[in-house]
Amino acid sequence: MQHIIEITEDGSHTLYVPELDEHYHSTHGAIQESLHVYLEAGLHHCDKPEINLLEIGFGTGLNAFLTLLDTEKSKKTVKYTSLERYPVSCVDARMFNYSKLLDPSQEKKFMRLHSSAWSVWEEITPNFHLKKLQMDATNPDGFQPEGLFDIIYYDAFAPEKQPNMWTQEIFNRLYILSNQEAILTTYCAKGAVRRMLQSAGYQVERLPGPPGKREILRAVKR
Ligand SMILES: C[S@@+](CC[C@H](N)C(=O)[O-])C[C@H]1O[C@@H](n2cnc3c(N)ncnc32)[C@H](O)[C@@H]1O
Repeated sequence: MQHIIEITEDGSHTLYVPELDEHYHSTHGAIQESLHVYLEAGLHHCDKPEINLLEIGFGTGLNAFLTLLDTEKSKKTVKYTSLERYPVSCVDARMFNYSKLLDPSQEKKFMRLHSSAWSVWEEITPNFHLKKLQMDATNPDGFQPEGLFDIIYYDAFAPEKQPNMWTQEIFNRLYILSNQEAILTTYCAKGAVRRMLQSAGYQVERLPGPPGKREILRAVKR
């Protein structure tokens, strides 16, 4: 998918996809949105010392990078599996300003997220292990996770742009692949998505969104 780098309102980069007329993050702030939706509403609500995490859509690697930085403070261990159909090249990734804004000393780790091999576990740091899978998340064949997930970052393009990424079948499968008390968060608060998550079995809360977004969703498997 062809994309163009743009700056969002908090100064951090995102990608714009002309073919879909869609951004990878909120134009009100990419870092701000990722921190709010995935770390604050998701990761920080899991009290396990070892967390098995699944991300749908690796993209710029921003969610992975923020999670890695978080483990440096929390000392928790995260096993981070991320599914991505259209990987961003290392040449493009080198242009992103995330480490410059967050912690320039961590640029090498950010780039390792991108340069690490696909389909195998890579130790990026002792507390952060990454397995990227280049695959179509709508086709579950070939995705055999080793354990159940504690956290899911559901970060697909919007339902209006990619309706096949927001189906009952996908949410049913994610529910089965999750531990009891597992949390799924997403920036998308559409009623249809909330109802699909509920039908899958999740308890769903609407939470205040980051700037520019009224609400987000947090689903918990109880
Ligand atoms: C909203 S972006 C979010 C990306 C990422 N979490 C980030 O922080 O940059 C959605 C991502 O889903 C990926 N994607 C699109 N269709 C997909 C599919 N069928 N299977 C897996 N990933 C897909 C896109 O390439 C893109 O990286």
